[in-house]
Amino acid sequence: MPRGRASIKGDAASEREIRVTETLNASQLHDAARLLRDGGLVAFPTETVYGLGADASNAKAVAAIYAAKNRPSFNPLIVHLPSIGAAHTYVTFTDEALTLAQAFWPGPMSLVLPLRPDAGLSDLVTAGLTTVAIRIPAHPLARELLEQAGVPVAAPSANPSGKISPTTAAHVLDGLDGRIAAVLDGGACGVGLESSIFGGDPITLLRPGGISVEAASAALGREVKQGGALSKPNAPGQLASHYAPDAGVRLNAAKGAAPHLGFGAGPSDLNLSPSANLTEAATNLFSMLRKMDALAAKQNAGHFTVAPIPATGLGLAINDRLTRAAAPR
Ligand code: TXA
Ligand code: MG
Repeated sequence: MPRGRASIKGDAASEREIRVTETLNASQLHDAARLLRDGGLVAFPTETVYGLGADASNAKAVAAIYAAKNRPSFNPLIVHLPSIGAAHTYVTFTDEALTLAQAFWPGPMSLVLPLRPDAGLSDLVTAGLTTVAIRIPAHPLARELLEQAGVPVAAPSANPSGKISPTTAAHVLDGLDGRIAAVLDGGACGVGLESSIFGGDPITLLRPGGISVEAASAALGREVKQGGALSKPNAPGQLASHYAPDAGVRLNAAKGAAPHLGFGAGPSDLNLSPSANLTEAATNLFSMLRKMDALAAKQNAGHFTVAPIPATGLGLAINDRLTRAAAPR
């Protein structure tokens, strides 16, 4: 029984037995789907970041997510589904929620919606709330995996709790090798930032991400405000210190002695986007934070600096993640 695949079968919570996390490619997608159905933990690519998936209706499988990530157990998870049609099984939509769903799904958006009483999701997914976050990802491998698995898939980002979110399969293995059954390798994520989360009635923005608040406002024909629920510091992406590199991080800085992560023109060690393009910066953010961390360690610098990023469009989400990466821990 040399591989993770065989050792987890029939016992979702036995992630301790996994010695080697299997790396699967697109042609092995049916293996990934079967592992999920069997209660295994499978990391998979989405267009935002890699998710750590488990069958959301299987309490043991969901508990294994929290164990693998060392995640505080009061944080609810996003349920990933292949289509809006599938979502109706689990939640009810307001008119505005349906408008956003039709405008941005599949895509980098999650909606927090009222849970149907008969939804059959594990309480660990919702953390006991009467709402649940739903996402229909656009990444072709994610969609195919969700179709083939045929179960709702709870998936936080596939990193140890508090660490930088993964945008490649190698990042996933860095943090979780030996703690999960498999990672489905789909290359680098296109968006590079987690999904935007909208919810409530009227709808507000709960977490900035891949869909800008301006785009949501345009779809709804009114200004969407920054909302409440996730601003309470009890949600993982919302803890003050999160996405934390090992080195200290200083924001809104110019290039000095310490390694510098640039944006736009000017001297830097790495540059999120030399042409000051926010989409390109979002795509590069997490992988460059990892590289800056390594550079700071190599130079014994203790910290690195980051150039100012404009707070419009995707820049709102980028600044949100950078602020958490720089927060005192
Ligand atoms: O792009 C993404 O959203 C990635 C990929 C894998 O889909 N997932 C992700 O999940 O970022 P995670 O677990 O790292 O962040 C989910 C956020 C948390 O801040 C959680 O508290 C919030 O969603 N959340 C989940 N259900 C909620 C609910 N019912 N009400 C309020 N917030 C909720
Ligand atoms: Mg996360």
